[in-house]
Amino acid sequence: MSEEIVRLESVNKIYKTGDTSITALAETTIGFESNKLTLIMGPSGSGKTTLLSIVGCVIYPSHGKVFYKDKEVTKLSENKLADLRLHDIGFVFQQFNLLEPLTALENVMQPLLLQSVSKKEAKEKALKALEAVNLSDRIHNLPKKLSGGQKQRVSIARALVTNPTMILCDEPTASLDAKSAAIIMEELKDLAREGKAVIIVTHDLRLRKFADKIIYVEEGKVSNSIQNEEDYK
Ligand SMILES: Nc1ncnc2c1ncn2[C@@H]1O[C@H](COP(=O)(O)OP(=O)(O)OP(=O)(O)O)[C@@H](O)[C@H]1O
Ligand SMILES: [Mg+2]
Repeated sequence: MSEEIVRLESVNKIYKTGDTSITALAETTIGFESNKLTLIMGPSGSGKTTLLSIVGCVIYPSHGKVFYKDKEVTKLSENKLADLRLHDIGFVFQQFNLLEPLTALENVMQPLLLQSVSKKEAKEKALKALEAVNLSDRIHNLPKKLSGGQKQRVSIARALVTNPTMILCDEPTASLDAKSAAIIMEELKDLAREGKAVIIVTHDLRLRKFADKIIYVEEGKVSNSIQNEEDYK
């Protein structure tokens, strides 16, 4: 049973710098559901990260409304928004955003500690999440002592560790070889099957076979979503 988690109603995003304004996202009405792995595809600069950032309540749209489970996000204060992100949303950013002075394990523990989970429980959960992405042998490494693909996997573990309702990933397989990418995608697909809304921005055509739904973005315009019937079971 899938349920709409996030809804964008007549949303757009315009960036103004000096006299020029860039429409990063043209007016869009779209919903994202639980139990689905949704891919957002499109060329560089087309507005994919902008769309994902609005869905993830990281940025407010210029116009329009965003609803998270019937709650109007665009009416929430910054504090309430931060709370929603911390408890309900897991992010895997395009640039990983790991904290450099912290080890892989400490990075993954971080969101739990922010939620005031005990150190002991945070450590147990973080170890499990790192095991799920095959990184048990690198838990004490600092980010600078990890490869790009390993950093990517730490950031995926960090997104999963709080058991969020929605998982948003920006190019989660960009630094991974085919085998590691397939392992991560299977893991993300399992999470969708367990009921989460998994939304992934990617250029990687190989990922299409894992998708339940594919959305294309071009020059800020979001096309009608396509159900991936072949793979949708
Ligand atoms: N903070 C910002 N200020 C001004 N312009 C921005 C800002 N963020 C994005 N843009 C512009 O908005 C457009 C969409 O950017 P966005 O990052 O969403 O693209 P993208 O599809 O994620 O690209 P890529 O695949 O290269 O990551 C681009 O033209 C970009 O230059
Ligand atoms: Mg981007």
